[in-house]
Amino acid sequence: MQFDQTFEQHFPTHVLVRQHRGIEALTASLVAVIEAARENEDNAALSTENTTQGGFQTGGGQDFLERNEPPLRALKSQIIWPAVETYLEQVLDCNPLLTPVSLVSWAVSLGPGDWQAPHFHPKEYTLISGVYYVSVPEATEPEGCLEFVNPNLNAVSMGNQPSSRLHRPQTGQIILFPPYYMHFVHPLKARVSRHVIAFDVRLQHK
Ligand SMILES: [Fe+2]
Repeated sequence: MQFDQTFEQHFPTHVLVRQHRGIEALTASLVAVIEAARENEDNAALSTENTTQGGFQTGGGQDFLERNEPPLRALKSQIIWPAVETYLEQVLDCNPLLTPVSLVSWAVSLGPGDWQAPHFHPKEYTLISGVYYVSVPEATEPEGCLEFVNPNLNAVSMGNQPSSRLHRPQTGQIILFPPYYMHFVHPLKARVSRHVIAFDVRLQHK
């Protein structure tokens, strides 16, 4: 039997990783903002519906990056928006200037024994999900690593595709990924806290 055959790649999963350098002063000021929130505010991680296990998370009803504090404004304008614009342009084929989007964000601090259960970000109108790694303690894999779950579960159970892909975060790194991409965070052992700011990029709607 004669035939022609091609394997087409349909809809790949795009993950943007951008590592910033020379951000020591910004890191110190962001850590101070998050630690002050941890000292003074309610802990959303205590909710049974929250995927953060242990640790601290700022309230879901608030937008952490909307707080009027200079380090948060610098993070948004110099790091988060430039990466989001690149993703909108190169992955979603949108003109960032003509795409009305806004951020919904929250801070998460994990300490020894804390972790994050598998989840994705299914809220409607979410175009991109992301994390900025404010401060990540030195550790050996997989401690504190982000792990993405293979969306093709049949290929894992019936075949030999890997079940997941491990991502090792570093201080000063931003990662952007599709909101449907399941992920979790391995437990920490380090006594130093791991601080991140997580966010969704949502299409503005009426
Ligand atoms: Fe997440």
